[in-house]
Amino acid sequence: MKTIGVIGSGIMGSGIAQVCATAGFKVWLYDVAQEQLKKAHASVQSSLEKLASKGKLTTAQRDQAIRNLNITTQFSDLKESDFCIEAATEKKELKKKIFKNLDSLVKAEVILASNTSSIPITEIAAATKRPDKIIGMHFMNPVPLMECVEIIRAKTTSDATHKTTLELTKKLGKTPVTVKDAPGFVINRILAPMLNEAVNCLEEGLATKEDIDLAMKIGCNFPMGPLSLADFVGLDTCLYILEVMGRKPSELLKKMVAEGKLGRKTGEGFYKYGI
Ligand code: CAA
Repeated sequence: MKTIGVIGSGIMGSGIAQVCATAGFKVWLYDVAQEQLKKAHASVQSSLEKLASKGKLTTAQRDQAIRNLNITTQFSDLKESDFCIEAATEKKELKKKIFKNLDSLVKAEVILASNTSSIPITEIAAATKRPDKIIGMHFMNPVPLMECVEIIRAKTTSDATHKTTLELTKKLGKTPVTVKDAPGFVINRILAPMLNEAVNCLEEGLATKEDIDLAMKIGCNFPMGPLSLADFVGLDTCLYILEVMGRKPSELLKKMVAEGKLGRKTGEGFYKYGI
């Protein structure tokens, strides 16, 4: 395996492209939007710079990773991929369309993985003629720093596909955890209701947002409080995951999403951010 295609250059796609390029793979990072690709390239560069400045990468590794990364708006550039990881917007119909198109483009033996955080992998697999080669690879944000990747087997995923994906995950310096294809998988099944409860606590006036976050940071040793984490993940993403899981989202969460307060990415969620 030499070349990895990454589809979607948002926060997750750019992070995935970065770890693949750092692990020595040639990467094609595809997006429909040139502007988004430029932003992704700049954010990968700055992340690599930071890691090199902390001695986590040598300057040679940093430079090689940048050389390994190619950005493109031409879907056909993904043709030479030996493995593809899709990290497009979390919309079922869009993902199915991308998988259908990839299925017609890339070599028959290529595994197609989705970074979906909640959409059933079995449904995505059904959109292709290679359901045995479809698998979920759910990376965590920020991808360059987070160790875990949930590996989700569709009902149709073959043992060979699973094995190759586990090996690739380890080559990327990550630890795979295999889970069944059920709504929210494991991490979001637990995380999303917890974040929602934090929003309920705020809505009910149990404590200030700062105190809710502080309580969980120093009370449970969380690296960041749940409201900060919800802003980090994106409030629209939190809402979407809760809906896919059939959980009742907090009214405040729904209101904030309707108002376009989506967290860090829009500059305002529970907190304000300079963007
Ligand atoms: N690349 C390189 N360096 C990065 C980085 C990146 N992408 N992102 C952050 N850093 C750096 C920061 O710049 C900072 O560097 P300095 O120490 O030089 O300032 C360093 O990492 C530590 O960051 P911070 O000081 O800002 O804060 P921190 O110590 O709390 O660490 C964190 C940041 C790793 C994000 C930590 O807060 C954390 O682990 N938070 C929880 C993250 C989490 O739960 N992620 C999963 C979300 S759920 C998900 O992703 C799945 C889903 O489907 C919703």
